Order: sequence, then structure tokens, then C-alpha cells
Amino acid sequence: MSSNTERSLVLIKPDAVRRGLLGEILSRFERKGLVIEALELRTMDGELADQHYAEHVDKAFYPPLKDFMTSGPLAALVLSGDEVIDVVRAMIGATDGRKAAAGTIRGDLALSNRENLVHASDSADSAKRELALWFPNL
Ligand code: TYD
Ligand code: MG
Repeated sequence: MSSNTERSLVLIKPDAVRRGLLGEILSRFERKGLVIEALELRTMDGELADQHYAEHVDKAFYPPLKDFMTSGPLAALVLSGDEVIDVVRAMIGATDGRKAAAGTIRGDLALSNRENLVHASDSADSAKRELALWFPNL
């Protein structure tokens, strides 16, 4: 079988850190067999939030999302592995924690459409852009 090793930018969001779920979520990625290439606790500032969520800055949900994402430390990760971009998106589940399937991180642990624990790159193009933004030296 062919393999396609990729990198994805993953954020374990401030709600996860506050709720003591950092270890649980990291553990799921480790148990899946993904490689943690970088891991940093960071607090997002408004400028980074606007860049990271460039596709969403004009939406009605963006101001409270920005407040939330800048509200405390998050864990920024670079994960690598075979097809890691799609694999991690499947592991985190649908955006709205109330609708995300059981067995996914959001489905098991989140009950909100905003405070949904994890961000993950959704395509090769967004991974490239987000990795350059968060880990320019990697
Ligand atoms: P989006 O890119 O649609 O979701 P995902 O994180 O699954 O790629 O939206 C980015 C974030 O914006 C999402 O994780 C939570 C927040 N958000 C809201 O607060 N309200 C909303 O209605 C939507 C769609 C997203
Ligand atoms: Mg998205």
C-alpha cells in the first residue's frame, strides 16, 4: 500500500486546557500512532487570531470566537503521519460538539459549537498556511 506522510497544524484550544483535557486529547493522538513533531503552550494574540481565522474574520460568530481563542493558553502542535490531515479531522469530529459523532474528540467531550476543544488543518493548502503561521522555523 502506498503511503502519504503529511503534517497538520493542530490546536488544543483554551477550553481543553482549562478543563484539564490536554493529556486526554494528546493521548488520543499518540495512541493513533501520530508523531508529535512540535508542541508548545502559547496564548494567541488578536493579530494571530485574525490571521489564523482569515476565512472567518467577517462572520458574525468571529468576535466571540476571537475572545475565546485569546482567553488563555492553548497547545499548538505539529502532528505528522500517513494522511494525517484527514485522519485528524476524522478524529476531532464535526464542528458542533452537540452534533459530532460519539467516538470523536468533540463528540465525546464537547457540547458547544464554539468551545469545541480542537482545531485541525482541513486541507493540504490550509496545513501549509497554518504551519507557516505557527511554526515558521520548522
Ligand atoms: P469552522 O472552520 O467552520 O470549523 P472547524 O473548526 O471544524 O474547521 O469554524 C472555525 C471555528 O469557529 C469552529 O471550530 C468554532 C467556531 N464557530 C463558531 O463559533 N460558530 C459557528 O457557527 C461556526 C460554524 C464556527
Ligand atoms: Mg475550519
